[in-house]
Amino acid sequence: MSLIAPSILSADFARLAEDIADVDRGGADWIHIDIMDGHFVPNLTFGPPVVQAVRPHTRLPFDVHLMIEQPERLIEAFAKAGADRITVHAEACVHLHRVIHMIKDLGLPAGVALNPATPLQAIEYILPDVDLVLIMTVNPGFGGQAFIPSSLVKLRQLRQQLQEIGKADTLVQVDGGINSETAGLVRAAGADVLVAGNAVFSEQDRAAAIAALRPEGMR
Ligand code: DX5
Ligand code: ZN
Repeated sequence: MSLIAPSILSADFARLAEDIADVDRGGADWIHIDIMDGHFVPNLTFGPPVVQAVRPHTRLPFDVHLMIEQPERLIEAFAKAGADRITVHAEACVHLHRVIHMIKDLGLPAGVALNPATPLQAIEYILPDVDLVLIMTVNPGFGGQAFIPSSLVKLRQLRQQLQEIGKADTLVQVDGGINSETAGLVRAAGADVLVAGNAVFSEQDRAAAIAALRPEGMR
């Protein structure tokens, strides 16, 4: 599996609908939507009304990455606004098991995200229940940061653990500092879903930018 999910954090917020349509035409697989609350991460983005407003502008799945404290307060609102899948941070959930099952009970695939310094052990007992694991390859909060190389070790260990528990079909996502160089590295280490903000939206030709992130045979 190899999917590209452009992150609209790097889009032009004054023309969000056009930028989403542009990456849709350019061959994106998912639209990655970064929700930040100014507490869990030192930045703010937007909430469910904006997700709902852009929902009619593409048929691509909305991959909602919640970088917020107490995400359980807003999960239903994001689901109603048009999220197709929701990922929460292990670090932001006191009752991670409850939150993951809240997402699944709404009929959506559930993901768990880990910051660069959080060990895989933090999700050992929830791993069998999740549909996706997001390994953050930068500290969340901003687009355009440099890829953290130790993430590659974590990715390889995660792949091995998933294999060991018979959950090899769980999606492994990476987010932060993904470009045409790091894309090959994370894919070789086991990533299936590559989020990319800057690498896609800083380019005029979004189709070419997305293609540059794909494995050579798929361009
Ligand atoms: C980081 C966000 C990312 C961000 C990635 O906090 O979760 O999705 O948009 O941006 P780039 O690809 O520019 O590092
Ligand atoms: Zn993200």
